[in-house]
Amino acid sequence: MVPDGWTIRVTGYLPVDDPLEARLRRVCAALHNLPEPAIHVDEEARIVTVDCAQAREVLGDARQVLRPLRITERIVVKPPWKSFESGRGDIVLEIDPEAAFGSGLHESTRLCLRALERHVGHAETAADFGSGTGILAIAAAKLGVARVIAIEAHPESARVARANVRRNRVEGQVQVHCASSLEAVTTPVDLLTANLTAEGITARLAAITGRVKQGGVLLFSGMTDENSQDVERLLPRAGCALIERLSEGNWVALAAVKTGSTLGRE
Ligand SMILES: C[S@@+](CC[C@H](N)C(=O)[O-])C[C@H]1O[C@@H](n2cnc3c(N)ncnc32)[C@H](O)[C@@H]1O
Repeated sequence: MVPDGWTIRVTGYLPVDDPLEARLRRVCAALHNLPEPAIHVDEEARIVTVDCAQAREVLGDARQVLRPLRITERIVVKPPWKSFESGRGDIVLEIDPEAAFGSGLHESTRLCLRALERHVGHAETAADFGSGTGILAIAAAKLGVARVIAIEAHPESARVARANVRRNRVEGQVQVHCASSLEAVTTPVDLLTANLTAEGITARLAAITGRVKQGGVLLFSGMTDENSQDVERLLPRAGCALIERLSEGNWVALAAVKTGSTLGRE
């Protein structure tokens, strides 16, 4: 029972991406459904002001947990303020995430880095859809991809990605675009990474596959074991064949090869 006159504030942090509106609607619906008669949610209740400065302040402390992290036999991610003695053949990604997603702490990023190392082959061109800190685009460049287009919808994250690209001295290879579509990818690429949600991937599958050359590789991450099956089911219709399924805990990444001809565009 909530005493009279009390206000309960629910604070949450949600990714600022396309499904944000739908998520906010679900949060509002869930609050309305609480079986607690003393709780009133304003019909007009709309959350959220996104205050990047405040987010940075909150995340400032969280950044202190970052340490050099070996992701694969070759790939290590480290924050700029920590030293790391690299061995022969190590590929070190120096990433300051600030308030962006992609520090290497999340399973979906790690899975995508593993898939990238395994499937990059001799790719010369790549696109990274939803680049966050730029971690995957930078990894692709350091694994030898000559030209990488990184696309990030959130302006603050795009700024962070550009800073990380410079920090890793791959600005000659990686271009960061602040956009929410793949329009900047005007010529089909050899490799595409997309660490989004399953909904984000399925909603744009035709546009994504349309940006990849026949025989090119697509790496999808950001899905749970359950909802990765939605993406897997759609792959054949999108002209793609699954080549590997990687998992860590309940998180899944899918590697696919484009077998069909170029399909849809946005
Ligand atoms: C899960 S994070 C992945 C970040 C990084 N690539 C990684 O693997 O750690 C997804 C990122 O995609 C961005 N994003 C979501 N929808 C997008 C869209 N339609 N276009 C471009 N970026 C998008 C989000 O802002 C977020 O930075």
